[in-house]
Amino acid sequence: MSCLTNQKPVTVPWVRSQKRHQKMTMLTAYDYPTAVILDEAGIDILLVGDSLAMVLYGEPNTLSVTLDDMLRHTLAVSRGAKRAMVIGDMPFMSYQVNTEQALLHAGRFLKEARAQGVKLEGGLEYASTVQALTRAGIPVIGHIGLTPQSIHAIGSYRMHGKMEKERTYLLESAQALAEAGAFSIVLECVEKDLAHEITEKIEIPTFGIGASPNCDGQVLVTQDLVGLSIERIPKFVHPITSLKEPFRQAILDYIERTRQAPETGPLETRGEIVASP
Ligand code: KIV
Repeated sequence: MSCLTNQKPVTVPWVRSQKRHQKMTMLTAYDYPTAVILDEAGIDILLVGDSLAMVLYGEPNTLSVTLDDMLRHTLAVSRGAKRAMVIGDMPFMSYQVNTEQALLHAGRFLKEARAQGVKLEGGLEYASTVQALTRAGIPVIGHIGLTPQSIHAIGSYRMHGKMEKERTYLLESAQALAEAGAFSIVLECVEKDLAHEITEKIEIPTFGIGASPNCDGQVLVTQDLVGLSIERIPKFVHPITSLKEPFRQAILDYIERTRQAPETGPLETRGEIVASP
């Protein structure tokens, strides 16, 4: 059943207009069925995050995912999204080398994967890249605070904005990205009061992840939220359910039924499952 709150497709002007109005929702989606479920439920933005490297591929961090991986998953998500905006996450080394590469690679998300925009990690130092993309008509979401593509430089998945120097950098970065044309910014693991200050000071919406409710919206990894993640989840996530358990139980039932009726086994089981979605 659909729970749509706003039937019109989500656009950049709509996202901008929600600043200080309704809280917006963003969740990750990496595949078609998840996109359909989230879209029908009324999630505003589907982020095809490079977190898929860890969540889907079992990698230790996000660095190994390629542009082709991201484009393939983004296209699958686009096929499933009717109302939600689809944002492709630019993977490590797809925009860091120079602006020309950033433009060509970001353009592929829109041309080949039917995304409505891209997200990229980094502050002040990427403002000129964001400006070039937005001038070319490619909507951009910024991402500051904990930036997982820099994990080897940062050293750990920690909170950001405790020290004065870091606070100043994050505030200036948020302002620079907004001035460069980003239409919103993800604040990941940013201290509560700083997330609040940034959200108050800039004119574009902020999406918090581990950055307190003091933002214009929230973003999470869907698998963490619904209890489907295999690895340890971040401390700030409070799963709403544990889908791993019914999933595991269904597989145990399948094994049991197959073993109990070897002559009909899987075929009969399959028929029962198809009949009761
Ligand atoms: O890759 C991702 O899923 C993200 C979100 C956690 C913001 O960047």
